[in-house]
Amino acid sequence: MFPNHDEVDPIDAYGRLDRLPDGRPRVRLNMIASLDGAAALAGRSGALGGSADKALFAVLRSLADVILVGAGTVRAEKYGPPHLDDEARGRRREAGLAEVPEIAVVTRSCHLEWESKFFTEAQRRPVVVTVAGADEASRRRADAVADVLLAGDDDVDLAQAVQLLGERGHDNVLCEGGPGVAAQAAAAGVIDEVCLTVAPLVVGGDAHRILDGPEVDPAQRMHVVHVLEADSYLFMRYSRPPS
Ligand SMILES: NC(=O)c1ccc[n+]([C@@H]2O[C@H](COP(=O)([O-])OP(=O)(O)OC[C@H]3O[C@@H](n4cnc5c(N)ncnc54)[C@H](OP(=O)(O)O)[C@@H]3O)[C@@H](O)[C@H]2O)c1
Repeated sequence: MFPNHDEVDPIDAYGRLDRLPDGRPRVRLNMIASLDGAAALAGRSGALGGSADKALFAVLRSLADVILVGAGTVRAEKYGPPHLDDEARGRRREAGLAEVPEIAVVTRSCHLEWESKFFTEAQRRPVVVTVAGADEASRRRADAVADVLLAGDDDVDLAQAVQLLGERGHDNVLCEGGPGVAAQAAAAGVIDEVCLTVAPLVVGGDAHRILDGPEVDPAQRMHVVHVLEADSYLFMRYSRPPS
C-alpha cells in the first residue's frame, strides 16, 4: 500500500524546481494515463481524472513559473487562462512570484482561437511559441494578444523553446503535454521530472500513450521520488537521477 495523497502536504511533496547548473530551466511533465496506458478517454484527458488528480493539477500549476502546452491540448481540453485560488496566489506573492504562472502554447500552424477566453480573459499575456515558417498574417494576429517566440523554422525545437522561456526569467516549466509536445520534449532531453497519475480505469480503444512522437534514444532512466494513492488513483513522481 502507498501513503494516501491526503496525508501529505503536496506543496512539500512536489516543491518548486530550480534551474539546472547550466542555466536551463527544469521541466516537470504532468500527465495522466489509464491502467492500460491511454492518455485520453473520449478524446480528453479530463475524463480520466478524479478529484485528487484535479487538485494535484492545480498544485503543480501553483508551483510553476510557466506552463508549456501543445495547441492540440488547448483545443481538445478547451483551455482557459490559468486560475489559482486565493491561497495559492497568496503563497506565490509571499514567495515573490507572479500571482499566476505564465502559459505558453506550442503551435506550428499559429492558428489558435484568438477570441477564446484563453486570450481574452488572461490575467497574464499568454505566450505563443511558433516557427518562422508560420504565415505572417497569423503571426501578426498572435502578436496582438500574446508574446510570440520563434523557436525553429518549420518545427518548434522544444529544447530551444525551453531555453527561450528561461530567458524570460523562468526557472521551472510545467509541461502539461499533450502527447505530441511531451514526446518531442523528452526526445530533446529536456524532461527532468515526470509526474504520472495512473487512473484506475481500463479503457481499451486506440488513444495515444502519454508520449506520442520520436523515440527517446537512449531511453531516459528516471528514479522514483514518491508514490501516493487516493481513491485507487496512483500519483507517481519520478525525476532524473542526480548526475
Ligand atoms: N493524458 C494526459 O495527461 C494528457 C495531457 C494533455 C493532453 N492530453 C490529450 O492529448 C490529446 C491531444 O494530443 P496532441 O498530441 O494532439 O496534443 P499536443 O501535443 O498538445 O498538441 C499537438 C499540436 O502542437 C503543435 N506542435 C506539436 N509539435 C510541434 C512542433 N515541433 N512545432 C510546432 N508545433 C508543434 C501543433 O499545433 P498546430 O496544429 O497548431 O500546428 C500540433 O498539432 C487530447 O486528446 C488531450 O486530451 C492528454
